Amino acid sequence: MSEPATKPNALIFGGLNTCSRALAALLVPLDGEPLVSHLRIVDKFSVAPATTYIGAEFPKVLAKPEVEYKQANLTVAATVASSFDPPEGKAPYDYVFDFTGEVRHDRTEMIQINTTCNLARLIGLEAAKRKTKAYVRVQQPFYDTSASSKATHTEKEDVKPVDTLGTWWHETLRMLAAIENLNLVILRIGFAYGPYTNFGIVASGITVASVYGYLKKPMKSMWSPGKNPNNTIHIDDVAGASWACAEWMAPLGRAAANSLAGEELIFHNDKKKVKEVEGMPPHDQKLVAPLFNLVSIYFSIRSLLSFNINNPTTTKVDESNSTLLSIGQLMDDHVEDINEHHVSGWTEMITTSKPAIPNTPLSAYMDKFALSKHVVAFNNAKIKEVVGYKLTKPQFNHETIKEVVDKWKAEGTWPIFE
Ligand SMILES: *[C@@H]1O[C@H](CO)[C@@H](O)[C@H](O)[C@H]1NC(C)=O
Ligand SMILES: *[C@@H]1O[C@H](CO)[C@@H](O)[C@H](O)[C@H]1NC(C)=O
Repeated sequence: MSEPATKPNALIFGGLNTCSRALAALLVPLDGEPLVSHLRIVDKFSVAPATTYIGAEFPKVLAKPEVEYKQANLTVAATVASSFDPPEGKAPYDYVFDFTGEVRHDRTEMIQINTTCNLARLIGLEAAKRKTKAYVRVQQPFYDTSASSKATHTEKEDVKPVDTLGTWWHETLRMLAAIENLNLVILRIGFAYGPYTNFGIVASGITVASVYGYLKKPMKSMWSPGKNPNNTIHIDDVAGASWACAEWMAPLGRAAANSLAGEELIFHNDKKKVKEVEGMPPHDQKLVAPLFNLVSIYFSIRSLLSFNINNPTTTKVDESNSTLLSIGQLMDDHVEDINEHHVSGWTEMITTSKPAIPNTPLSAYMDKFALSKHVVAFNNAKIKEVVGYKLTKPQFNHETIKEVVDKWKAEGTWPIFE
């Protein structure tokens, strides 16, 4: 195969604590030819020493000559602008991957507005100004699709954002879509999981399932097993699809991409906020952007438990007591009771492990969001049809979970009983 004369330069913003390390490893692999000629990653964390969990492999990616890491406060417009200035002698950035956004559910609306909406908007405005060829925004699955009886939801359907967090993540999409000439593609993903990924409900689910396995107790499930679809996505596919979307967008431009894959982004906020929040488009402004769902097949707690992580006996699900509560119904006391049980089990596991695990980024603590009922069921046909992207890990199963746990074991963050 012939190489293109010049490879693109890429810029990744945010996501060090979520999915951007996987994209960096795809663009500049440890073994093999890089897809880009230069990659810059910009986030608020320090990487040496690391102020967030980055996993055992990422430092090796950072050591590659094509890769540069910049620690920066992206809430400052001038800092965002200077992040786009390439190093001396390098061409401007062709592709921007926007993995920013606050993923913690306990953050206030003000923090969401500042660090999810405003920050992405600053990056989007700068990318439009610089005529960046592709701007891929990763949208986390902060939606609830339970209202409709349909099995899966296409990009055409209106789905409801959940919580303060979901509302402002969704608003961010509208704000980006409103930026004229921004070559925006939105990738709406499922619940992400994968090697060295400790954020989100799947990592908590795997950890908690292992506690029940260790205690040889049936899991008291808050999520009715098998009934509520929760789409997942492997981080390798978040990376692969992000790249595929950038390559798809670059020769098209926004107008052509909109006509091929544009979807209306429906208003789901309080109309009064329009006046208060800078850059927030009016509720009745019709906003269209290319949007693709990116999900693997459903997962349920049952599929987590089919794989017992610590011993050969299989963890059972106690269905007699499987309460199903929405966020509003779940009481703080309830959350604390459940967590006391999980956390003490996990603590016992990491201290009795051979060798003991003094430090781990994994926790059996589940916040209210993780413990409450979620239904996220997206249809994944469009990205394959339009972009041609085929999932590399289409199923969340025994094998994909084992890969995750084995890598944690190898880096010394997961208990071993053998
Ligand atoms: C980032 O900049 C903003 C605006 O100047 C400031 O309020 C905030 O404290 C800064 N954050 C950090 C972590 O320095
Ligand atoms: C959010 O940004 C505004 C305007 O820059 C600032 O006044 C406010 O203190 C910030 N709030 C938080 C919680 O970061």
